[in-house]
Amino acid sequence: MRLDGKIALITGAARGQGAAAARRFAAEGAKVMLTDVLDDQGKELAAELGAEYCHLDVSDEDAWAEAVAFTVGTFGDITVLVNNAGILHFSALAETTLADYQRVIGINQVGTFLGMRAVVESMTRAGGGSIVNVSSVEGLGGMPYLVAYTASKFAIRGMTKVAAMELGQHGIRVNSVHPGAINTPMVGEALGRPIDISPIGKKVALRRVGQPDDVANVVLFLASDESAYCSGAEFVVDGGATATHALS
Ligand SMILES: NC(=O)c1ccc[n+]([C@@H]2O[C@H](COP(=O)([O-])OP(=O)(O)OC[C@H]3O[C@@H](n4cnc5c(N)ncnc54)[C@H](O)[C@@H]3O)[C@@H](O)[C@H]2O)c1
Repeated sequence: MRLDGKIALITGAARGQGAAAARRFAAEGAKVMLTDVLDDQGKELAAELGAEYCHLDVSDEDAWAEAVAFTVGTFGDITVLVNNAGILHFSALAETTLADYQRVIGINQVGTFLGMRAVVESMTRAGGGSIVNVSSVEGLGGMPYLVAYTASKFAIRGMTKVAAMELGQHGIRVNSVHPGAINTPMVGEALGRPIDISPIGKKVALRRVGQPDDVANVVLFLASDESAYCSGAEFVVDGGATATHALS
């Protein structure tokens, strides 16, 4: 199996793309620690997959130390980290409060920094590993009404490259994934009501929105040894959304 012997911690794994990655990882032989703040959903999925679950708010520094220690104690040293947890907040730049800005940065950006930092020791002890940081197409281009989100996703893209340069000597690869419009509860949650995002799909080359598995399959590739010579790189999963520009 493609992840035989791997020990993986996935953040935001209770639903959406994190849950899809957890399913793929478990099916490919990894020992998986699902983490999230949605404990009931996370525990239920972990039980279904024969995996483990641990509560982890990624913006909480102490909680990271506890989650890593629990994972190492349960399975052994961590060889795959997927920094997937994230939130979206829509507001015009002029109306974005500092509190909203900092909330998004705290989870998406600080959470990714804390996650990478928290696993370095364990992954180094293991002889290497793979860190997959979930950014976005908003880490490649700006989107109106998403100032905090876009800032956080550009930051993830940048810190991925710094980490790749520092950690390569320990056999640790670090890459970013840039999904386009993916069919998960995230946009509906940010808007406060369920929304059908399928019309957005009509605008991209492949004429559809992505499904969580479209991203999970790329995350799986990056977690596996198949991507052994990939580090510091950007993997776009957007149906061709960024293949063009606004003038086309
Ligand atoms: N859905 C999209 O269109 C899309 C596009 C580009 C990038 N992304 C990114 O993909 C990742 C996964 O998002 P998704 O689409 O599966 O959305 P989702 O809302 O379904 O899943 C996000 C998960 O993160 C968890 N989470 C939120 N705050 C957290 C915190 N403080 N600590 C730990 N977990 C927390 C949520 O409980 C949820 O399970 C995010 O980083 C998101 O920014 C999503």
